[in-house]
Amino acid sequence: MFVTFEGIEGSGKSTQIKILKTALEKIHFDVEITREPGWGAVGELIRKIILDIPDLDLDPFSEISLFCADRAQHVKELIKPMLNKGKIVLCDRYFDSTLAYQGYGRSLDIELVKKMATASTLGLIPNVTILLDISVNTALSRIVERPGRNKIDDESFDFHSRVKNAYLGIAKDSPRVHIINGEDEEAEVHDKIKRCLSTNFSIFSRL
Ligand code: TYD
Repeated sequence: MFVTFEGIEGSGKSTQIKILKTALEKIHFDVEITREPGWGAVGELIRKIILDIPDLDLDPFSEISLFCADRAQHVKELIKPMLNKGKIVLCDRYFDSTLAYQGYGRSLDIELVKKMATASTLGLIPNVTILLDISVNTALSRIVERPGRNKIDDESFDFHSRVKNAYLGIAKDSPRVHIINGEDEEAEVHDKIKRCLSTNFSIFSRL
């Protein structure tokens, strides 16, 4: 079972993934947490190029190519093998991020972005995607103090608004994507995620 988490900066994905892992382990599931970009040797190098070197002037096409390269490695080296072992994989960002950030945030050609993002999954589409939705104001206030802010965190209010709206559009077009209000208290968001998974998937009915 492959579950991805999406949302703008500060939406609480990584916190919710950790709490969900604990809840799933309590009912004896074997869970692997991962994230994009930056898994593995290739991913770590790619992450540095995209996010961590402030003066590097990356063309948007170079940027999307690097995110897609990171994903293909990640799917091949980690996600597929873990799923084949019967694990539940919880992934912080996946190909919807590419459509939202590179397609709508960077305004690249949407059809091209869809093709590249889909190709980069090597055919592996998530079983379910949790979209944690928060306002751009909340996002910016949550990340203002964040240690290790990256280049994309520092993008404009308009950029983050385009990404947020893109996510809502993706959710509207795809029954795979479930929107959860990320503005609520941590425990309440967790309960909503559990309810969403347990009502939609019999494998999670004990959550
Ligand atoms: P990260 O530091 O991992 O933070 P978070 O996921 O908590 O926001 O930042 C990853 C950044 O990369 C984030 O700003 C979203 C961006 N991103 C893309 O632009 N396209 C992509 O395909 C992916 C996977 C991430």
